[in-house]
Amino acid sequence: MTAVSAAAAAYIVAALLFVLSLAGLSRHETARAGNGYGIAGMAVALAATVGLAARSIEAAAVGLIVVAMAGGAAIGLWRARRVQMTGMPELIALLHSFVGLAAVLVGWNGYLSVEANAGEQTEVPADLLGIHSAEVVIGVFIGAVTLTGSIVAFLKLSARIRSNPLMLPGRNWLNLGALVAFAALTVAFVVSPGLGLLTAVTVLALALGWHLVASIGGGDMPVVVSMLNSYSGWAAAASGFLLDNDLLIITGALVGSSGAYLSYIMCRAMNRSFLSVIAGGFGNEGSTASGTADGEHTEVTAEEVAELLRDAQSVVITPGYGMAVAHAQYPVAELTRQLTERGVDVRFGIHPVAGRLPGHMNVLLAEAKVPYDIVLEMDEINDDLAKTDVVLVIGANDTVNPAALEDPGSPIAGMPVLQVWEAEHVVVFKRSMSTGYAGVQNPLFFRENTRMLFGDARERVEDILKSL
Ligand code: TAP
Repeated sequence: MTAVSAAAAAYIVAALLFVLSLAGLSRHETARAGNGYGIAGMAVALAATVGLAARSIEAAAVGLIVVAMAGGAAIGLWRARRVQMTGMPELIALLHSFVGLAAVLVGWNGYLSVEANAGEQTEVPADLLGIHSAEVVIGVFIGAVTLTGSIVAFLKLSARIRSNPLMLPGRNWLNLGALVAFAALTVAFVVSPGLGLLTAVTVLALALGWHLVASIGGGDMPVVVSMLNSYSGWAAAASGFLLDNDLLIITGALVGSSGAYLSYIMCRAMNRSFLSVIAGGFGNEGSTASGTADGEHTEVTAEEVAELLRDAQSVVITPGYGMAVAHAQYPVAELTRQLTERGVDVRFGIHPVAGRLPGHMNVLLAEAKVPYDIVLEMDEINDDLAKTDVVLVIGANDTVNPAALEDPGSPIAGMPVLQVWEAEHVVVFKRSMSTGYAGVQNPLFFRENTRMLFGDARERVEDILKSL
């Protein structure tokens, strides 16, 4: 078997492992195995690619690649071990920006090694030069949009810039104009490739990526992260065409299409238009108001909540980002166990965008060994909330905000929410009256059947456990 056919066989194995990985990651029972398949697939792919490259480059260059890989792996391991669960979305956004940057560099390298050497002998035959030029310009464009879009997402998710949507006048026309200009520049570059044209495409795409994500508001950020995941896949696929690497094309297409599908599912779950989100909030006149909610809130103590729980027959817990911040999942799991032992029917209601990444709450609850069968999706539990004695809202805010259904002017209007206010009693665990991620005030806190239990969610749940 030649080295080339061995590498081709390894690529097929790696591609299958990636497909198994995606299948595994789609359910929490199999997610760990899915991760394992992904790691194995990437190890096979890297070994085959470096092995193949070693045939045509000098030993010193192979050494450099191995050193770079070892350095990258060490940094990756260090970051992955240190990152808090709540910091995952911003880390993922940053990693997407690296894929975008790599695609831009691969595109520019393609130009410098082929089109820039017009007239000299290159590895691309003259009759395929037009296709090569199109690959260069498309790869650079997708990569640059992904690069700056991901940087803005990183800055918004890590609260380094405000998450409000940027509302430039005529912003939809700006986006449309950028796409038309890109089409024109692509044709011009294919006909007559030049440094100026490629620079113009790069600058245009960097600006478009920045603007597309800057125009999207806080509440829609989950969709943006999965959309950028999809873009990073297409950027990798574009690099695969340029580098003539089949595995990169397959992997890029897998990431691109699964990311696009995830974005679509999340848009449906949040009642958002998919097209509007990928077009930078197109058609969304985006209320930036923070919403209003007046009235008196009523406080409660942990002892009183324990009393309420003692008398309850059915309890639903709706966790949110605050549970992750407080690491409250462990006492919450203990509370669930104790209440269940007392014969209380305890279940969890999970909003699709609760927390800061898809499946965030499910992962935390699984970590704390809460049984999967009492953890229900929002659609599965919403109808039962009116028959529930007590709902414990633990560090959730936007995902239980009635303004989404009742106030058409609210920035989160139309987003389906957990209708916790339908229950007989609602207890909200949070530290203050401040807003959630979308920056919208929550009228739930002022409802007659709502009680506020202020303080760190972990400490307050532990207090309840003591009282019980
Ligand atoms: P949020 O609306 O973010 O609200 C979390 C609440 O937790 C805050 O109001 C905060 O209030 C409270 N909190 C923070 N630390 C706490 C602590 N130690 N103890 C007790 N409470 C604490 O949460 P949510 O309902 O989960 O909604 C998620 C939001 O994030 C949505 O707007 C969603 O669109 C967005 N988002 C989601 C994702 C994904 S994929 N899930 C990604 C990016 C953005 P205090 O400060 O008063 O304590």
